[in-house]
Amino acid sequence: MSKQQRFTITAALPYTNGPVHIGHLAGVYVPADIYARYLRLKGKDVAFICGSDEHGVPITIKAKKEGISPQELVDRYHTMIGDSFEEFGISFDNYSRTSAPIHHETASAFFTQLYHDGKFVEKVTEQLYDAQADQFLADRFVVGTCPKCGNPESYGDQCEKCGTSHNATDLINPKSAITGNQPQLKETKHWFLPLDEYSEWLNQWIVEDHATDWKSNVVGQVKSWITDGLHPRAVTRDLDWGIPVPVKGAEGKVLYVWFDAPIGYISATKEWAARENKNWEDYWKDEDTSLVHFIGKDNIVFHCIIFPAMLKAHGDFILPENVPANEFLNLEDDKISTSRNWAVWLHEYLQDFPGQQDVLRYVLTANAPETKDNNFTWKDFQARNNNELVANLGNFVNRVVVLTNKYYGGVVPQPTGLEPRDKELLEKIKTYPGNIGGSLERYRFRESLAELMHLSSLGNRYIAEEGLEPWKLVKTDPEKVQNIMYVCLQLTAALAVLSEPFLPHTSKKLRHILGLSDSVSWETVESEKALLAAGHQVQKSQLLFSKIEDEQIQAQLDKLATTKANNTTQNPKLMPQKDETQYDDFMKMDLRVGEILTAEKMPKTDKLMVMTVDTGIDKRTIVSGIAQHYKAEDLVGRKVTVLVNLAPRKLRGVESQGMILLAEDPEGKLVFVNPDDEILNGATIA
Ligand code: 2FM
Ligand code: ZN
Repeated sequence: MSKQQRFTITAALPYTNGPVHIGHLAGVYVPADIYARYLRLKGKDVAFICGSDEHGVPITIKAKKEGISPQELVDRYHTMIGDSFEEFGISFDNYSRTSAPIHHETASAFFTQLYHDGKFVEKVTEQLYDAQADQFLADRFVVGTCPKCGNPESYGDQCEKCGTSHNATDLINPKSAITGNQPQLKETKHWFLPLDEYSEWLNQWIVEDHATDWKSNVVGQVKSWITDGLHPRAVTRDLDWGIPVPVKGAEGKVLYVWFDAPIGYISATKEWAARENKNWEDYWKDEDTSLVHFIGKDNIVFHCIIFPAMLKAHGDFILPENVPANEFLNLEDDKISTSRNWAVWLHEYLQDFPGQQDVLRYVLTANAPETKDNNFTWKDFQARNNNELVANLGNFVNRVVVLTNKYYGGVVPQPTGLEPRDKELLEKIKTYPGNIGGSLERYRFRESLAELMHLSSLGNRYIAEEGLEPWKLVKTDPEKVQNIMYVCLQLTAALAVLSEPFLPHTSKKLRHILGLSDSVSWETVESEKALLAAGHQVQKSQLLFSKIEDEQIQAQLDKLATTKANNTTQNPKLMPQKDETQYDDFMKMDLRVGEILTAEKMPKTDKLMVMTVDTGIDKRTIVSGIAQHYKAEDLVGRKVTVLVNLAPRKLRGVESQGMILLAEDPEGKLVFVNPDDEILNGATIA
């Protein structure tokens, strides 16, 4: 197979700690999908790969806050995110997940090979440690001042403000995100990828060889990191959620999430290839395959430095041909933020604008943050829908199909001696696949969409030219009208084909209305062949787009205004409200008033207290993490709220047979939730 025939297209694996929003769609998934669909239409062999990124500290933190296991959390969002992508027509060949066994095996094998080949440096270093929480503070478990830009809220592994990727120990004034305490330094062993050894090679490959064909933001960032000096980077962590480090002496350690996640592209390809009876290695090891990573700008360092260094160290993988990273999308002039709920969530959009997925795809592409950060506003969304999709594309197609039905019973008319004006337009249509494709091949999605809309504008101008409007001419010169309608139908069919990468739902609908054969492809539009032959029957018209009213937009603006008001009145550190739950689910909890009969701090632990509690039903042992907040002697006789039907679990060898309810503030202070009047032990709470 020659170069440019087989493509492995990856889209950044989304973190599975929340739903996806318009920023994700605009930055990564819509452009990646347009590209993949275009290449398939051109007859290329495409593997379009993605999946859920299910490891990493944010997932552990969120699961802990919600009182569920990380696996439960990722299961919830994996399904939700996958459903949103499907609804928006993101045509992944495989949407996998990094908790899948095939990924654990692939990532472990990758690490093991590098380990045996001596590609890592094994070092005992001092890492940040929270004595109170009794754990090392990897990545997002620590917050401090960024050594590069001074952002006081930088995370341990990356500063979201300037994009710098650093080690947690580089932070100035680090604080534990768990307890707020100043961490200590404690020795621990880790494996480091010596990025400094790849510096020269990376400089030659990206900064020199791709200086002009890669996006300038990507090359610029890489150049700046290399100039600042690359340092060995730990690829393991002291955490309990992730892929266990597969070597002896690494108990309690897992692979760094940014080591395992990009390998997820490979494991997802393997999973797909096994299903489709293909050879996954063709997509990752054949020099003729083009590998393209679609990402947001915060992922550049990982896809242009760390992952390529890993692939190079492994030795038998291809490297990306391009990494067309996008900038960020803002919402109504403010940074999109999950924690501040400042976002348009895809699942909510689908409820508010059912069946209008292509409108959002359109607006996000027309306004894509390709070369600079961009802004999404609801007014612009409405204007683009009403003035461009409805008034230009939808209007043209509707006129043509309605008139074809009205004049010819839906049968494509026979042209009768085409005039130069008609021939000129037919010739022009053939140039559009090349123009649109040319822009797409240079990752200029806005430009290519503008080309598509330009074709539709040409149609509108042609049909409405003074004195030539079919609806005026039909009585006096019906033969000329046949020509005009024939040409318009060819243009409509071209729109049906060429819109597919951008507006897949619309394209499908239009193909159906026109009864367009599957054999009419991107190439047919460029060829001499008629797309719709005279005598072909089309269906009745259906509206492709409908007007979006002011009230719908106002409702969205009101929703954002409420969010803003909540954000300013609320303590920003408070945990956001959890997802809605059902009455029946709540009623499954058996909550009772209990009384602590005995209490004793568990030996060799900082936090755990072992208590005997009278629940009214029985007397049982409950272990709770309150030893830093209450003294044992102050507990006896206290009334508490107990969840009595929680499945028992062992904590440091002692079985805890229930849970005492506690209130926790953002600083980690814990207090009992207890009835303020005397009431019988065992009284039910609901
Ligand atoms: O930034 C993110 O959402 C990451 N989860 C992207 C991972 S991309 C890849 F390498 F897996
Ligand atoms: Zn910074």
